[in-house]
Amino acid sequence: MKSSGNTVLITGGGSGIGLAIAKKFLENENTIIITGRNLSKLEKAQADNPGLHIAQGDVTDVSSIKALVERTQDEFGGIDILINNAGIFHMFDVADEDFPFEKQELEIDIDFAGPMRMVHYFMPQLKQKQESAIVNVSSGLAFVPFAMAPVYSATKAGIHSWTKGLRRQLQSTNIHVFELMPPVVDTDMVAELKDFPKLSPQKLVDGFWKGFTKNQYEITPGQSSQLKLMSRLAPGFIFKALNKQDLPEVK
Ligand SMILES: NC(=O)c1ccc[n+]([C@@H]2O[C@H](COP(=O)([O-])OP(=O)(O)OC[C@H]3O[C@@H](n4cnc5c(N)ncnc54)[C@H](OP(=O)(O)O)[C@@H]3O)[C@@H](O)[C@H]2O)c1
Repeated sequence: MKSSGNTVLITGGGSGIGLAIAKKFLENENTIIITGRNLSKLEKAQADNPGLHIAQGDVTDVSSIKALVERTQDEFGGIDILINNAGIFHMFDVADEDFPFEKQELEIDIDFAGPMRMVHYFMPQLKQKQESAIVNVSSGLAFVPFAMAPVYSATKAGIHSWTKGLRRQLQSTNIHVFELMPPVVDTDMVAELKDFPKLSPQKLVDGFWKGFTKNQYEITPGQSSQLKLMSRLAPGFIFKALNKQDLPEVK
């Protein structure tokens, strides 16, 4: 996939991994639009990174996605690259009936159905370009579930499976299908996770960029490549190793 001259839409691009990816594309002379629910977060990202375009939007809300499709078509002639990065992460005890089921449903709606919704509504724009791409940000946990975050792990395993199907279906089209599978990365999302080494967003993006520019479709930076290998060679061992900790204290 070419690395410059694209119009790139990044969901959840106002912070963390999405913002680090946005900066990389910006450095490489692309047009970037970042989305998110919190407008002030997007405005801060824009003030810190002149040139970024922002659009308040929610991947669970079809009317907000349709408005984004219309705006990107009118203002930029459509997008070339869709990066499905928006996500939330809940650690909870499944035995605690006070943990609201609505939070689990929202996790599924954002992390699992969100990318599907975006692909559905942006497909006409992606098809109209000579070369375009979808990048789904899943997780190394797609290979080995993390028991403390059971719904999250399941959504990422689901995204991994869906991405493989999507790639196969679109293989003879103009649309490349990538999957970025980060290990633990130092962002607000995982601030509560104390016992794991964390990759910096910058290092993650260096790994992403190498794979992306070489059309390496499944990108597994840092410990995600070990999770992938071990999930095949010794699945029981790696599951136990990842899940040694006690469950978090229920709040
Ligand atoms: N950090 C890690 O260790 C790690 C590891 C593996 C995979 N990942 C994945 O990497 C992606 C980015 O996470 P991150 O670590 O960079 O966390 P982050 O800093 O919390 O970023 C997540 C972004 O998603 C946005 N978002 C959440 N719900 C949204 C919605 N409904 N519609 C649109 N935007 C929404 C958030 O902004 P608003 O709240 O303003 O909407 C936020 O900017 C996620 O898919 C995550 O699962 C992260």
